[in-house]
Amino acid sequence: MLSSLRIASRRAALRNFAVVARPASTWAKVPQGPPDVSAILGITEAFKADSNSKKINLGVGAYRDDKGKPYVLPSVRKAEDKVISAGHNKEYAGITGVPEFTKAAAVLAYGKDSSALDRLVITQSISGTGALRIGGEFLARFYPGAKSIYIPTPSWANHGAVFTDSGLKVEKYRYYNKDTIGLDFEGLIADIKAAPKESIFLFHACAHNPTGVDPTPEQWKEIEAAVKAQGHYCFFDMAYQGFASGDIHKDAFAVRYFVEKGHNICLAQSFAKNMGLYGERIGAFSILAEDADEKKRVDSQVKILVRPLYSNPPIHGARIASQILNTPELYDQWLVEVKDMADRIITMRALLKENLEKLGSKHDWSHITSQIGMFAYTGLTPEQMDKLAKEHSVYATKDGRISVAGITSENVGRLAEAIYKVKG
Ligand SMILES: Cc1ncc(COP(=O)(O)O)c(C=O)c1O
Repeated sequence: MLSSLRIASRRAALRNFAVVARPASTWAKVPQGPPDVSAILGITEAFKADSNSKKINLGVGAYRDDKGKPYVLPSVRKAEDKVISAGHNKEYAGITGVPEFTKAAAVLAYGKDSSALDRLVITQSISGTGALRIGGEFLARFYPGAKSIYIPTPSWANHGAVFTDSGLKVEKYRYYNKDTIGLDFEGLIADIKAAPKESIFLFHACAHNPTGVDPTPEQWKEIEAAVKAQGHYCFFDMAYQGFASGDIHKDAFAVRYFVEKGHNICLAQSFAKNMGLYGERIGAFSILAEDADEKKRVDSQVKILVRPLYSNPPIHGARIASQILNTPELYDQWLVEVKDMADRIITMRALLKENLEKLGSKHDWSHITSQIGMFAYTGLTPEQMDKLAKEHSVYATKDGRISVAGITSENVGRLAEAIYKVKG
């Protein structure tokens, strides 16, 4: 009796000691983020857990070859070998990065004869996301009008967060018409006209993510006229130059047209998709100034903004991209390889449509081939997407978006059957 009392009191003392010795954690009040903070992460996990050997992952936002494997462009391999054998040192780049890279990136985007090249401020960035963030921060600090940015509905899932965290208010404009699975052109123009004068508009330069729906050149011209009439400012996000149509000039049409029409745009470029340099995080942010004096002032502020963010950007990816853009044989080889990637995607779109039609589907699937770039909006509902995953082991985001890069000659037939069973 006595000894059990003693044991109990010792235990109580130990419990008290544990309470005293372990202060409340500094992060005890950090709330749990929503489970689907990254829809892609959820898909990856569900895909991994599925034991079906014929499962298909159409959630990934990266190019896959026809065997479903990640692809390193041969031109990138060659460029990397050259970079390594050059035996460069590993000294820091300047705040705005590797100058041979940024110079060539500007030519790629604006065109070698563009009037923009002389009055352009450009900085290397942590891929396209970093470019958008630098742009967002610059606009939040210096845009003389309202600190709001209009983005399309829907838009790339990260746009809202990037611009909100930059200090801008995010507004939406109409873009996608779910009834036609196409562009809501009237809605888009109406929203440009209805926005307060001198608002900031973000446009996807090509291969709109997530819908794959782009304005035609004629529609871009009307968009430009509406934008100009309202005195709006344009921020272009060009994450897929060359990857959309296979032609770097065609994909840069909107950017170059707006510049030609006198808009001093700003631009986010990414080399993740068109060079397959995803993890190297290589991109550029540029902004057009009116004249040399303005260029000097804007350049100084871009540097002031970048310096406390990450001091200066990484050099390896920039050297690879620079090697490709500045070596004529490698550049020509790269153009062919970008076109090959774009063509494989275009072929998979056609094959998917053809297979659905062969199965007897009565739906109009023409949007599959009229859309462009890595993603296709199927028009399937969240319930149908759920069924695709649960009953057919086909994984993609609930909004009905599929990554066409995940389709191969081998799995396209099975994919069409699964979609046909779910949608009819
Ligand atoms: C429209 C759009 N903008 C920007 C990005 C940024 O990509 P990254 O930061 O990998 O270059 C992406 C990536 O998917 C995108 O789709």
